[in-house]
Amino acid sequence: MSLTSESAVGYDELAVLKLLALEGGLEGDVKISCSHLATRLDASNQTASRRLQRLESADLLERDTVSDGQWVAITDAGERALHAEYEDYRRIFESDSQVELDGTITSGMGEGRHYISLPGYKRQFEERLGYEPFPGTLNVDLREDSVRRRSAIASLEPVPIDGWEDEDRTYGPAVCHPATIETVDGDAYEDAHVIAPERTHHDEDQLEVIAPDKLRETLDLDDGDHVTISVGDGR
Ligand code: CDP
Repeated sequence: MSLTSESAVGYDELAVLKLLALEGGLEGDVKISCSHLATRLDASNQTASRRLQRLESADLLERDTVSDGQWVAITDAGERALHAEYEDYRRIFESDSQVELDGTITSGMGEGRHYISLPGYKRQFEERLGYEPFPGTLNVDLREDSVRRRSAIASLEPVPIDGWEDEDRTYGPAVCHPATIETVDGDAYEDAHVIAPERTHHDEDQLEVIAPDKLRETLDLDDGDHVTISVGDGR
């Protein structure tokens, strides 16, 4: 269940949000009346109105009341709440779960090389991923819809990389997922992993990939090149 605690809405409200989305609430303002909504929900006008209020207070919905009803629009947060439900159902009905993300190759700040080579991580990569990664991470700038879809990775089983420490500092835990990188020419590299700090923000717009080989060479990639990354389950 992916509702955030601060949103304080339950499934009753989500059902209303879904109805509004079915009526076009994601595309822009739709006009509804409480009695129409009440009929669709098989509930009283009062109940329908209360659910709309809760959705509005949780910032999942914007409303503008007029004399003969109200204009409503689902907010970005509302869309994310619906999307989280959608991903749950996807997980239930699609056993072979893969999350496909699109983006373009970009250069990072040269930090990947440092982290991937640290002994505390390197040892775990060899044990748990089965290879010594090329020292670095290939950064991919995700397309807008893929930034949103990225949250679906959370429903796949990760290969955990534990945090560790040396004399100077501690290094945080990370999660890896097996990944296939495909170029626009149709070349595919199957033995890669996406890697992210364990407590990453789901809306991060960059993906970092590690692999036994230097992917820029193996797949002949330059900054700006388009790639599709299929992220899978680590089990
Ligand atoms: O500067 P940046 O953070 O992008 O690089 P890095 O993480 O230090 O990695 C060094 C270089 O190798 C970068 O150009 C990466 O895009 C590339 N790389 C690669 O081609 N294949 C990998 N498996 C890892 C990194």
